[in-house]
Amino acid sequence: MIKIAPSVLSADFAHLEQSLEAVASADYLHVDIMDGIFVPNYSIGFPVVEAIRRSTSLPLDVHLMVVQPGRYVERFCDAGADIVSIHVEADTEANLHAALGRIHAKGKKAGVVVKPNTRAEAVIPFLKEVELILVMTVEPGFGGQSFMADMLPKVTEIRKLIDREKPDCELEVDGGVALDTYKLCVFSGANVLVSGSGIFKAENIPARIAELRE
Ligand code: DX5
Ligand code: ZN
Repeated sequence: MIKIAPSVLSADFAHLEQSLEAVASADYLHVDIMDGIFVPNYSIGFPVVEAIRRSTSLPLDVHLMVVQPGRYVERFCDAGADIVSIHVEADTEANLHAALGRIHAKGKKAGVVVKPNTRAEAVIPFLKEVELILVMTVEPGFGGQSFMADMLPKVTEIRKLIDREKPDCELEVDGGVALDTYKLCVFSGANVLVSGSGIFKAENIPARIAELRE
């Protein structure tokens, strides 16, 4: 079954509760955290994640675009995250293993993320210990960018690794996923689709979520 994760970055933060009600039929709520260093943009911090937690019953899929994410993973777990994903480019391998361990110690699911210029093999050291792998299909930092179709072979490559080594691991794509691109992601092996503008800009948001799941 395909899972849909609306990216709250594209929601109307002045009417957060209504925005979250509109996506209640989704599977996860994707929450982007940006530190202005790992990516050239800031987004939201702990108080807003806590407010989101209180306003939806969807599992929160928190995507940390933050350098040395191990410094903050426990606080995001405490703020209400259900899944916390960290970038493989964001720290040393040893520190990333330690961060994944700290997420699990909080009883939460852990994931790793790869940027467009990072090869599929970069996930191998983490494959056995994560519940989710996220392949970026845009350069992280901003919503509303164009989908990078040249990331699809990497999705297929990671799908093969997952099927071989960790079949219950989820494979998520993020960036430019919308009506014109979601099928390519599914055919390439993704089972979780993050979509920001593709969902929140739709006239009928619940209908768009249903369409993306087909
Ligand atoms: C980009 C973020 C995405 C973003 C996706 O750095 O990680 O989650 O919100 O937005 P769309 O779907 O509009 O590309
Ligand atoms: Zn994201």
